[in-house]
Amino acid sequence: ARITLRQLLDHAAEHGYGVPAFNINNMEQGLAIMEAARACDAPVIIQASRGARSYANDIMLAKMMEALTEMHPAIPLCIHQDHGNNEATCLSAIRHGFTSVMMDGSLMADAKTPASYDYNVAVTERVARMAHWVGASVEGELGVLGSLETGQGEAEDGHGAEGVLSHDQLLTDPDQAVDFVTATQVDALAIACGTSHGAYKFSRKPDGGILAMQVIEAIHEKLPNTHLVMHGSSSVPQELQDVINRYGGEMPQTFGVPVEEIERGIRYGVRKVNIDTDCRMAMAGQFRRVATEDPREFDPRKFLKPAMDALRDLCRDRFERFGTAGNA
Ligand code: G3H
Ligand code: 13P
Ligand code: NA
Ligand code: ZN
Repeated sequence: ARITLRQLLDHAAEHGYGVPAFNINNMEQGLAIMEAARACDAPVIIQASRGARSYANDIMLAKMMEALTEMHPAIPLCIHQDHGNNEATCLSAIRHGFTSVMMDGSLMADAKTPASYDYNVAVTERVARMAHWVGASVEGELGVLGSLETGQGEAEDGHGAEGVLSHDQLLTDPDQAVDFVTATQVDALAIACGTSHGAYKFSRKPDGGILAMQVIEAIHEKLPNTHLVMHGSSSVPQELQDVINRYGGEMPQTFGVPVEEIERGIRYGVRKVNIDTDCRMAMAGQFRRVATEDPREFDPRKFLKPAMDALRDLCRDRFERFGTAGNA
């Protein structure tokens, strides 16, 4: 059954678990995530970016979500707009059956320029008011994702703020977070703590200097009843890098957010954990393996089935480690 983010995260808070939010663009990802959830009895957040919506088409995505709900009636499913950039994106998502939207007002509507605090409060408050009228939930973001190692924003891969950012912008301020949640009435708050989108988050296994989990503890202390969201939370597992590189990939060595750090976040109010890169790597590794091991193969299903299996196993591992399993 379809549920809102608010309903799901209230349950998660009451029972002390976190929920991975997996991005999807196509049928295979939807099937694999739901198969994992069914296998371990976990509630699900499936999210779609603006890019996913234009890739798959809004009608196709909406019908897919409907099909997944019908196939798995016992699994609570929250359908979430990832990184909505303005009111139009958020409201059109709701119109297509999404039960939750992120209004990312940490960036201007071009999704590249860091926004002022006043702009962020104003646009997020407007979206929250409208979404709540029709029973949808809202995630806001305070602080801009980017690397504490380099200060670099993320724009070179087409995502996030351009240029070099200050520590002030890269770490959410706990007092400002209190003001923001009060002013906007968001259901969940995405924070910045040194993570960034994509595979290249850290040049070494992160410590407190470059992955500031202590910021989350400080925010949770001031906002104990607010559901916190971690973006850029792929772990970029060494095994997935190795599979890709064993079969002709050329990914330079990189480090993601260790699952233990996410588990620690979950003890301090993190309830939604955004994961896309790990899912992409799990699938792409299998595409490469099949292409390398059987160069005569050309049936897409022979590539997609092992990719779905790898994605299913990854999702199941996160459901188990975040405590989501058993809570459907
Ligand atoms: O926020 C980033 C997510 O990984 C979605 O990426 O915009 O390429 O679909 P995308
Ligand atoms: P990753 O790139 O770490 O998977 O982050 C995904 C994300 O934050 C989507 O909003
Ligand atoms: Na989101
Ligand atoms: Zn994100």
